[in-house]
Amino acid sequence: MSSIAVIGGTGMNRWPGLAVERGHEVETPYGAPSALLIEGTVYGVRALFLARHGEGHRFPPHAINYRANLWALRDLGVRSVVAIAAVGGIADWFAPGEVAIPDDVIDYTYGREHTYADGREGSALAHVDFTRPYAPRLRTALIDGARAAGVVPAGDGVLAVTQGPRLESPAEVRRLRRDGADMVGMTGMPEAALAAELGIEYACLAVSVNWAAGVMGLGDIHAEIERSIEDGMTKVRAILSHALPALAAADATA
Ligand code: HPA
Repeated sequence: MSSIAVIGGTGMNRWPGLAVERGHEVETPYGAPSALLIEGTVYGVRALFLARHGEGHRFPPHAINYRANLWALRDLGVRSVVAIAAVGGIADWFAPGEVAIPDDVIDYTYGREHTYADGREGSALAHVDFTRPYAPRLRTALIDGARAAGVVPAGDGVLAVTQGPRLESPAEVRRLRRDGADMVGMTGMPEAALAAELGIEYACLAVSVNWAAGVMGLGDIHAEIERSIEDGMTKVRAILSHALPALAAADATA
C-alpha cells in the first residue's frame, strides 16, 4: 500500500498515467468519501488518487465530504498528500497557466464540517498547530520537482479559500488582496486543516486557471479557464513525475 496520495481537483478528476490496480470503497465514521480511492502505479511509484469532486464532478466545493476524504486516505495508510487546486490568480505574478506552491492560507469558508474535534470519543486534539499549514518537506519536494521538470513555479504565496460555488465579486477580490492573499480557490479548506488534525503531511500545488474577478479587467472567466487549464495541468503532471519518486525514495530510507 502506498503512503503517498494525490487529491485531484478541477482539471484533474482522473490521473492520466496512473496504471490503476484497484479501487478502494472506504466507509468512515463521517460517511463516504467523494469517490473510490484509486490505487496504482505512476512514475514508478505506488500512489493513491482521490477525485475531490467525485465522479462526473458531482460535489461542488461546499458539499465535498472533506472529513471522509482525509479519514479514508489515512485508513489506507496515507501519510503524505499532495493536493492539486485550480485557483484564480490575484498577485500579478500568478497568471493563468502558471503553478505555485503556497506557503500559507486564509479560510473564508463557512458551514463546512471542518474538524474532527467534534467532541466524539477519541476525537482529535482541539487546537492543532497550524503555523505551517503546508508541510515544508512536501513543498520542497514540489519546488525541486518543478525545477527538475523545467517548470518555474510562479511563487509561494497565500491561498484564500472562499465558500463558492459562485466566483467572487471584484470588491471581494480587492479585499482578499488587502488581506494578503495571492490566489483564491474554494477547496483548500478545511482540507488542509483536517490533514493537520490527522497528522497527515499536506501540501498544495496550485494552478492559476484565471485571473480572479476584476484583477485584469472584467473578462469572461469561464473562457479563460477553458484556455489555460490544460497548460497548468500539464505542468502539474511534469512536477509530480519528479516530486513523487523523490518523496517515495525518501520514505523508503526513512
Ligand atoms: N475564485 C475561486 N475559486 C477559483 C477561481 C476563482 O477565481 N478560479 C478557480 N477556482
